[in-house]
Amino acid sequence: MDSPEEAMDCGADAIQGAASSSIDLPPETAPALRILEQYSGVAPEHIPERIKKIQAKALATFPYGCFKSYWFLNLVPTLEDPRYQATLARLRVPGSTETFLDAGCCLGPVVRLLASEGVPGERLYGTDLQAGFLDLGYELFGDRGWSRATYLAGDILDESDVRLDAFRGKIDIIYASAFFHLFEREGQLKAAKRMVGFLRPESPRAMIFGQNQGPKIEGWEKYVLDPGRWANLWEEVGQATGSKWRTEMEVESTDEWNNVRFGVYRVL
Ligand SMILES: C[S@@+](CC[C@H](N)C(=O)[O-])C[C@H]1O[C@@H](n2cnc3c(N)ncnc32)[C@H](O)[C@@H]1O
Repeated sequence: MDSPEEAMDCGADAIQGAASSSIDLPPETAPALRILEQYSGVAPEHIPERIKKIQAKALATFPYGCFKSYWFLNLVPTLEDPRYQATLARLRVPGSTETFLDAGCCLGPVVRLLASEGVPGERLYGTDLQAGFLDLGYELFGDRGWSRATYLAGDILDESDVRLDAFRGKIDIIYASAFFHLFEREGQLKAAKRMVGFLRPESPRAMIFGQNQGPKIEGWEKYVLDPGRWANLWEEVGQATGSKWRTEMEVESTDEWNNVRFGVYRVL
């Protein structure tokens, strides 16, 4: 089988390579199009050409299938996740000082979603291995000059990557969408430990949430962990970091795909 580095993608359709590169945007891109219009101020008639240009540059940076399928502009799974809605409420509550990090944020649409919903940019962070994706996010959303959000390039799996030290102990909520499934357990363990280091140690409501997807073919269970293996991973993370975590996972699989949503919560 292909490893995720070869087959990896942002979602089931993309993994299947079913996407066309036409500008017939799938209906799931509607929330992202609204952000481009209302947050970025792009005239509707200019949006398709802007997306096409960014898509080509993103594919040249790293050819994830999610760029071909426009999955990178699909905010529906995020919006439908009750943990996202809880996050939005926490971040927007008057007097909130909580912070949010999108780990493996790609072009950063979720950070822009939160900003467009009224969360102060100073409390929003995004990170990705590919600095080029972060630049393309600025180019797509046109907010380099005025966004207060912070985007940092770095390798979450590399404990010694000092570029990400700025997050250490600062974050309350981490979102990791289509991220953990890029790695086998060993990589997931490294990522999880680094994320725990990013979380504010005194934050009783520290949370990591997100989703993983993969085809139901032999070997993929190493990437999309089931609820038991997920809980076991976080037990090991807790032992390694002197912390304790409660996990939840909803399995929303079809005959052909494993789709899971998860939440991880600090236990004091
Ligand atoms: C499959 S995409 C998911 C993007 C986005 N979160 C989403 O749900 O559409 C995975 C992202 O993780 C980033 N990534 C891969 N390995 C990484 C690492 N070691 N550290 C940080 N980001 C990484 C990739 O560059 C890519 O943008």
